[in-house]
Amino acid sequence: MNISMKLNTRKITAILLLSITSIFSSFAEEGMLIPSLIGAFEDDMKAMGMKLSAEDIYSVNNSSLKDAILHFGGGCTAELVSSQGLLLTNHHCGYSQIQSHSSLENNYLKNGFWAKNRSEELKNLGLTASRIVRIQDVTLAVLEGTKGLSQSSKLLKMQENIVILIDDAMRGNGYSADIKAFNYGNDFYMIVKETFDDVRLVGTPPNSIGKFGGDTDNWVWPRHTGDFSVFRVYANANNQPAGISDDNVPYKPLHFLPVSVKNRVPGEFTMIYGFPGSTEQHLTSENLRYIIDQERPARISMRDKSLSVINAGMRSSDLIRIQYSSKQARIANGWKKWIGQIGGLKTVNAIQIKLDREKKYNDMAATKTEWQETYGSVIKEMNELVTQYKDVDFGYSMAIEYLYVGPEVFKQARNLNLFLVNFNKFEKNGTLDAEIEKQIKGAKGFFKNYNADIDKEIFILLTEEYVKQVGDGPLPERLKNTSAQDLADKIFKKSILTDEARFVKFMNKLKAKSIKKLQKKDLGFILWADANDKFRSEILPGIRTYKGAMNQLLKTYVKGRMVMFPEEKMWPDANSTMRITYGKLEGSAPIDGMAYTEHTTLKGIIAKNNSDNPDYELLPRMRELAKKKDYGSYAQDGELWVCFTGSNHTTGGNSGSPVIDAEGNLMGLNFDRTWESTMSDYMFDASRCRNIAVDIRYVLWVMDRYSGAKHLVDEMVLVK
Ligand code: ARG
Ligand code: GLU
Repeated sequence: MNISMKLNTRKITAILLLSITSIFSSFAEEGMLIPSLIGAFEDDMKAMGMKLSAEDIYSVNNSSLKDAILHFGGGCTAELVSSQGLLLTNHHCGYSQIQSHSSLENNYLKNGFWAKNRSEELKNLGLTASRIVRIQDVTLAVLEGTKGLSQSSKLLKMQENIVILIDDAMRGNGYSADIKAFNYGNDFYMIVKETFDDVRLVGTPPNSIGKFGGDTDNWVWPRHTGDFSVFRVYANANNQPAGISDDNVPYKPLHFLPVSVKNRVPGEFTMIYGFPGSTEQHLTSENLRYIIDQERPARISMRDKSLSVINAGMRSSDLIRIQYSSKQARIANGWKKWIGQIGGLKTVNAIQIKLDREKKYNDMAATKTEWQETYGSVIKEMNELVTQYKDVDFGYSMAIEYLYVGPEVFKQARNLNLFLVNFNKFEKNGTLDAEIEKQIKGAKGFFKNYNADIDKEIFILLTEEYVKQVGDGPLPERLKNTSAQDLADKIFKKSILTDEARFVKFMNKLKAKSIKKLQKKDLGFILWADANDKFRSEILPGIRTYKGAMNQLLKTYVKGRMVMFPEEKMWPDANSTMRITYGKLEGSAPIDGMAYTEHTTLKGIIAKNNSDNPDYELLPRMRELAKKKDYGSYAQDGELWVCFTGSNHTTGGNSGSPVIDAEGNLMGLNFDRTWESTMSDYMFDASRCRNIAVDIRYVLWVMDRYSGAKHLVDEMVLVK
């Protein structure tokens, strides 16, 4: 067993006492735990009310909860809820699929969509869902034969070991395997998975439910969003993954989650299983200071600008609303989270907390010569590294905002460039015509959701802001000596990147000569190429050196914590691998004089709708049903619960994750955190940090009463 995973019993007793004596605080909730090591926490979880065994939660030999939890599209979590491969995830996780099946005529975003039978379920090219077959500690095997080697030979040897281990794991089973570093390279785990490529859209509520509250409520409690969508996993006749095909049949899972329609009791045990993306719990005080004071505020101001343009456009036309809804949601989501994080970190005085922890660490190191030598200066070195590389890191963040999140003309340039660098190859092997066809098709998809006027405005505002922020940093010459307005006027009048007809014409007449001309004359392409060159030659190398050096220090630092503080509950930072977090159904009181209850109801939807904020618009049916109090069998004490909060430590990637009760039944779908708790990516505070889930009973109600899709409810196993 990994030493980081030991919890001593004294600590557990202390936790228990605490949770009895204070309503909102305990320490048990922090941490994103590795499922294969969950046995170490079984006692603590049982003490909090859990009735399952570690083997019920994670097992390699028998089916277990793990088999019902899928990694959805690589970025979200989803759970199987029927013997016929029915899969639930968030509405915002299925959003791009829902959007791509939508048009002004068939507006599934606005009206929702429900397949009446299997044949109406919609296929999704490129969408995958993966089941984790096993998670295995391979640290010793990865490090085998590396003792005494120099750093570079050691890395080579490890790479060799990894290739062999992966090959072995994949032989003859159709699985894929990956070995990931945990705890900054102190541990290695192999993750073997089975990936399904035929995942179809079964149903979605309208935006007025699935996105109710929009950006106004995003990251905020009280919350009333019905953030769910329904898919189905298909497999071949042998129940194995297969490419999209009409011959496929619904997948029969090893395990699916029964659904709890029982009354909820505040304080009851909750567990979340899913794929959290990334956390940075070990940042030093200096790093946090830089993020709070400089990096995040600058990124926020870049997005302030693009959002002001997109939001105005979306308010002005239905078409723009459809074209930009997905892009807007993505930009706004990070923007708002960062504002919340900075607020939370400042409120709890996170920098001082870090300084105190750093002192405690250094004091402990000073108690033993051996510790002092190994760990005594690591924090100082990390802080110095941050200071040394601040400008590099800042240049990187700004370039990401400008080139990758900013004007879309850059995205189009990047795609085109990817094609052009292979032009000779395509010509040689005779695939050029087919590749051109592909480009044209891709461009049609791009321009379907593109409005050049909007992009032009974004280009002007972001270029000005970028130049201002980066100052003397690595800027392309053209940005230094031409005004953004001038550049924009030329680019949006002439560039092939900003107009479908110009782009298609260029492609249809493509020759080696026209590429030369493009590179010399098309200002949009030229500007992107200049900026991209700067990015690759001046920004990326620096950031790689920085991150590499920081990772080495973090490895030592984390090891020091394991060695010097063995009694503390430790957990590896999230890295998009499967994790478990447990806590309770509970509210919070993050603001002096105010308490948040742990659930919201349908009444709150109607109350919000009574304001004139368009984010709270409803289709008439919701008010009708609410007026009749037509709650079916889904109510608790005469009210229909909509969302609830819990003290589960989650982050991006946990969207769609099941909230599971003490018996292993599905209570709801995680989809967010409260504004006050978004800081948990850097620092978890048990009294503030709450995840937000949509109650499964509301999901069932929307299917059954609102949408007339009772057949889907009937497919599930309801636990009363
Ligand atoms: N904040 C949630 C998450 O990080 C939900 C995002 C989607 N909703 C939205 N209004 N943009 O993904
Ligand atoms: N909405 C997030 C997601 O897409 C989850 C919220 C969070 O960051 O906790 O994964």
